[in-house]
Amino acid sequence: MARHLITSAIPYINGIKHLGNLIGSQLPADLFARYQRARGHEVMFLCATDEHGTPAELAAAKAGKPVDEYCREMHAIQSEIADGFRLSFDHFGRSSSPQNHRLTQHFAGRLAQAGLIEEVSEKQVYSNADGRFLPDRYIEGTCPNCGYDKARGDQCENCTIQLNPTDLINPRSAVSGSSDLEVRETKHLHLRQSAMKDKLDQWIDSQVDWPVLTTSIAKKWLHDGDGLQDRGITRDLDWGIPVKKGDQDWPGMEDKVFYVWFDAPIEYIACGGEWAEAHGKTDADWERWWRTDKGADDVRYTQFMGKDNVPFHTLSFPATIMGSGEPWKLVDYIKSFNYLNYDGGQFSTSQGRGVFMDQALEILPADYWRWWLLSHAPENSDSEFTWENFQASVNKDLADVLGNFVSRVTKFCRSKFGEEVPAGGDYGPQEQALIDDLTRRIRAYEAHMDAIEIRKAAGELRAIWVAGNEYLQSAEPWAKFKTDPDAAAAVVRLSLNLIRLYAVLSQPFIPDAAATLMTAMNTDDDSWPDDVEQALSALPAGHGFAVPDVLFRKITDEEREDWQTRFSGTRDG
Ligand code: 2FM
Ligand code: ZN
Repeated sequence: MARHLITSAIPYINGIKHLGNLIGSQLPADLFARYQRARGHEVMFLCATDEHGTPAELAAAKAGKPVDEYCREMHAIQSEIADGFRLSFDHFGRSSSPQNHRLTQHFAGRLAQAGLIEEVSEKQVYSNADGRFLPDRYIEGTCPNCGYDKARGDQCENCTIQLNPTDLINPRSAVSGSSDLEVRETKHLHLRQSAMKDKLDQWIDSQVDWPVLTTSIAKKWLHDGDGLQDRGITRDLDWGIPVKKGDQDWPGMEDKVFYVWFDAPIEYIACGGEWAEAHGKTDADWERWWRTDKGADDVRYTQFMGKDNVPFHTLSFPATIMGSGEPWKLVDYIKSFNYLNYDGGQFSTSQGRGVFMDQALEILPADYWRWWLLSHAPENSDSEFTWENFQASVNKDLADVLGNFVSRVTKFCRSKFGEEVPAGGDYGPQEQALIDDLTRRIRAYEAHMDAIEIRKAAGELRAIWVAGNEYLQSAEPWAKFKTDPDAAAAVVRLSLNLIRLYAVLSQPFIPDAAATLMTAMNTDDDSWPDDVEQALSALPAGHGFAVPDVLFRKITDEEREDWQTRFSGTRDG
């Protein structure tokens, strides 16, 4: 039995995520976690909300709530929606947890001891009225490029030009509106990534099996321009993890917090501690996943994320871990994704464009979305969601192929033999050919799942469903029944067993349908089909079953058009 530690990039707290976010990390991570559990391996699957930074503060202000309250509520909402999509986290934590506060401060202390943190003096805008330094995006003014009067200190939303706060005409505080601003000297901490460049470079070079998308992004950051740059890890915000060296104060850093991208990946580890606390476990229980001196040396750690997150996971976070000089578990494999686009444009949280996770579940159950998203995962290039394509794949793959097979077999059996697996007849050459074909295909499916080649795995699973349909079509139990009922019984017996087999194989993709099939087949034998022939005799003659309700319904043209219109604009509020 192997041990798999799996993390999904942790979603920002500032609102409900869209389907592009979902397929970019959480859903593929869930697929992998479910698959590894189904193969009998030990899995620790962690995710959390990413609660710090300006987006959290701004979203809370917009909602008119204190930021801690906003985060608590939004975490509960995201957690409930994750359940709705059947994301099987062992724990869904929060980057604002006490565990993450302690661990982030601990890492900063270790990095400082190792000489990897530099105190840098910077000039920054100070607001006298607000009594604080303002982050770039908390300063508003007129864009020098296009004249837009609500440009932010980091960028003009109107013409997209990148700005410095001092570029703005008539700058004012976005917090209070005050224009009583001045430029003052202040100290910030920088992580000396440049000092670790060679070590990181060697480490990336040793990852021969990583996806090109992952390594090419890391290489670009290591080598383009002047090479890997040091990175500021502190910010002037109220909400965040106070800057400390372990549990000691850090002189000159009293009003500062760590940069959200410093503490967010540390939450992967802290989340282990949150899991332990939530389940009455000990430190040793989570440390055996995370510390190579405490049992994690045989753990395989896989991370899932969108391509925009790759630099932080291939460089900054490893620099934090390596620089600490402590035996924390480093990632073994990084699976990254391109973007999913929406109907000719981009999904956008800020513009409310596309389908959001809560809306998706309001119109169809999770499995419909899971199947489409996973079978169209943006692995090798960006991919696009269209309603036509969604309708076509649901209707064909789920309703016509899988659903139809289940319905035909169970209903035919009920009408001719009753609701139990029929006895009589033997498996012949046709059955043997099917078993051989399925054996080949299941081994290929496993190989794709092990390699996290999601589209290929989905394609193979679909082919496995199709094989059952084709077998049924050519074995014709309805015709055989008239002349040789025993032969028909053998076909039906095998087909009922195929339904259980399909449930086991399909569970990582469509867990609810799989559960329905297991219940209908009246079994909890979810053992993996290492031996296909044996797996196809798991349900013996005489074993009772029930005809399930329609497994997947078809999406009608009217519905498709209706949803297309409903989701063509932007989401309100
Ligand atoms: O891009 C995002 O949604 C970030 N919140 C991901 C953070 S992943 C990690 F580092 F924790
Ligand atoms: Zn502009």
